[in-house]
Amino acid sequence: MHALFSPVRIGRLEAANRLVMAPMTRSRADAHGLPGELTVTYYAQRASAGLIISEGVFPSVMGKGYVHTPGIANDAQAAAWKKVSAAVHARGGRIFLQLMHCGRISHPALLDGATPVAPSAIRPAGQAWTPAGQLDFVTPRALALADIAAVVDDYRQATRRALDAGFDGVELHAASGYLPEQFLSSGSNRREDAYGGSVENRARFILELLTAMAEEAGADRVGIKISPEMNYNSISDDDPQQTYCYLVDQLRGRGLAYLHVALFGTAVDYHALLRPRFGGTYLMGSGLTQQSAERALADGAADAAVFGSAFLANPDLPERFRLGAALNTPDRATFFAPPTAQGYTDYPALERAESA
Ligand SMILES: Cc1cc2nc3c(=O)[nH]c(=O)nc-3n(C[C@H](O)[C@H](O)[C@H](O)COP(=O)(O)O)c2cc1C
Repeated sequence: MHALFSPVRIGRLEAANRLVMAPMTRSRADAHGLPGELTVTYYAQRASAGLIISEGVFPSVMGKGYVHTPGIANDAQAAAWKKVSAAVHARGGRIFLQLMHCGRISHPALLDGATPVAPSAIRPAGQAWTPAGQLDFVTPRALALADIAAVVDDYRQATRRALDAGFDGVELHAASGYLPEQFLSSGSNRREDAYGGSVENRARFILELLTAMAEEAGADRVGIKISPEMNYNSISDDDPQQTYCYLVDQLRGRGLAYLHVALFGTAVDYHALLRPRFGGTYLMGSGLTQQSAERALADGAADAAVFGSAFLANPDLPERFRLGAALNTPDRATFFAPPTAQGYTDYPALERAESA
């Protein structure tokens, strides 16, 4: 079975294979949010993916939530990213940029002293990773209506910059408990205006973001990632099935490049629930092996398979799958680490001789 190695349409582009590299924060940018030369190498090494989705990138300074994460909030950051997209394209690859606004999963120490923003002033449990070490999350500031419009505009401008920087498209990170999911979920959204309360209102922010991004890029260059019931970063929802079915019903018919769903041990099979509702290109992620991915593709449960840690540790993952070769083991200690080659660009590819 070689379903993984057939081409697949992902919006405006045709990917050469169905192996997608998952968005993965690596925390190797400089203090100005600029990705450097090692990041260029890291992504170029992985260009044999049918599609790479970049690590989460903050669309505006208030979106930053972790130390050493990169941004696309200004032209200097966009210029640095241009080297990444160019290197991936030079190797025949395709790359989307993931827009990640952390909202309340941040800290004043990451925001020049500013208070993180959220739909409601509800403090999450846990700690932020800041230049001063790990610090307790603070109570965020609830966005006013005018602020929401400004955040939507930040995403619009970030989308424009990503396209100018040569990316093939953009992905809205609407999972993992960051700002879009903070709006979507009843536990973090207690607003009483048009953005809170009913599921229609809680989904409004995500749909407005997608509209703005699609106006810049064309819907066929915009994807969205969701992870129902991941319950990460203090996210909770009273009725996640209703919430996600409603959201995905609203996504249908928008002509988006794809819906990316990563599930983390949910009792409900959201893939079965959401794929038919969406009706477009469906990216399945989390916990996949070559075998389970090929089965999902053969069964029609997904159109492409998203690999995270396996791609992190195996720059030539498609080649290894093709050959049935052994895989390098991901080293968790260097997932987020200082910007050296170790655990970043030094995972070995298969020897050419071995594959001959
Ligand atoms: C080091 C690391 C960083 C991650 N950072 C992000 C991120 O920035 N954005 C995102 O949507 N998911 C992020 N994820 C989640 C992955 O995209 C993916 O959903 C997850 O790793 C499950 O896939 P896997 O089992 O193939 O690794 C990260 C995962 C890892 C291992």
